[in-house]
Amino acid sequence: MLLEVDTIRTSYGISEVLFGLSFHVAEGEVVGLLGRNGVGKSTTMRSIVGLTPPHAGEIRWRGKRIDGRPTYDIARNGVGFVPEDRRIFPELTVWENLDIARRASASGEGWTEAKVFALFPDLERIQGRKGGFLSGGQQQMLAIARALLGNPELLLLDEPSEGLAPLVVADLRDQIATLKEQGLSVVLAEQNLDFVLSLSDRVYILERGEIRFEGMPGEVRGNSDLIERYLTV
Ligand SMILES: Nc1ncnc2c1ncn2[C@@H]1O[C@H](COP(=O)(O)OP(=O)(O)OP(=O)(O)O)[C@@H](O)[C@H]1O
Ligand SMILES: [Mg+2]
Repeated sequence: MLLEVDTIRTSYGISEVLFGLSFHVAEGEVVGLLGRNGVGKSTTMRSIVGLTPPHAGEIRWRGKRIDGRPTYDIARNGVGFVPEDRRIFPELTVWENLDIARRASASGEGWTEAKVFALFPDLERIQGRKGGFLSGGQQQMLAIARALLGNPELLLLDEPSEGLAPLVVADLRDQIATLKEQGLSVVLAEQNLDFVLSLSDRVYILERGEIRFEGMPGEVRGNSDLIERYLTV
């Protein structure tokens, strides 16, 4: 098992948001986290990477506890995180955004700018453009590229398809599928059901800080009870 999230409870101040949430990711798996706005998808990811550490429960990475460790240490262990807001440096070029990520990376092996450009050809073409002038799709690809330069074994993607045009979403799906073929494990938090179901090996549905369903994409697709209860707005 790569990642085990074991009955974690996470709060913002006095308001608890995750109420004993558990899920796991095996090596090479793509796992979808589905659920409406505010159910705790982002908080789950932030808990894993130590940005909002859980106050109870355990998070284990290859069997060893990582909850309570600093974020940089968790990243160095192989957990890459692309937050919902992407955090591109607007004043730096695409190349400079990538260069910073590569320099910050612990290991020199693995991902390089050349490999990143092979996966995202658009980024090579616009490598001199400033981050603040990128389209939503270009920003998302740059954010993923930056995370890859840290040579993660697991990539946490928080709503990667949000706000992107359908054609861009289709490209992004193919790119994530390529990463999966290369053996990367991925957790996808999404509201876009088709996007998640087409990429995931397993999916979880969250509601109010708890897992309410775990199953295969085929068990969700066309299951109008489940979709109406937990997913439609
Ligand atoms: N910084 C914060 N301070 C206080 N409460 C927060 C904070 N961030 C999130 N919350 C609350 O925690 C709950 C879970 O939020 P979270 O962002 O994890 O949900 P989400 O499933 O990612 O939703 P979305 O689809 O909107 O991204 C919500 O009720 C939200 O209002
Ligand atoms: Mg969120």
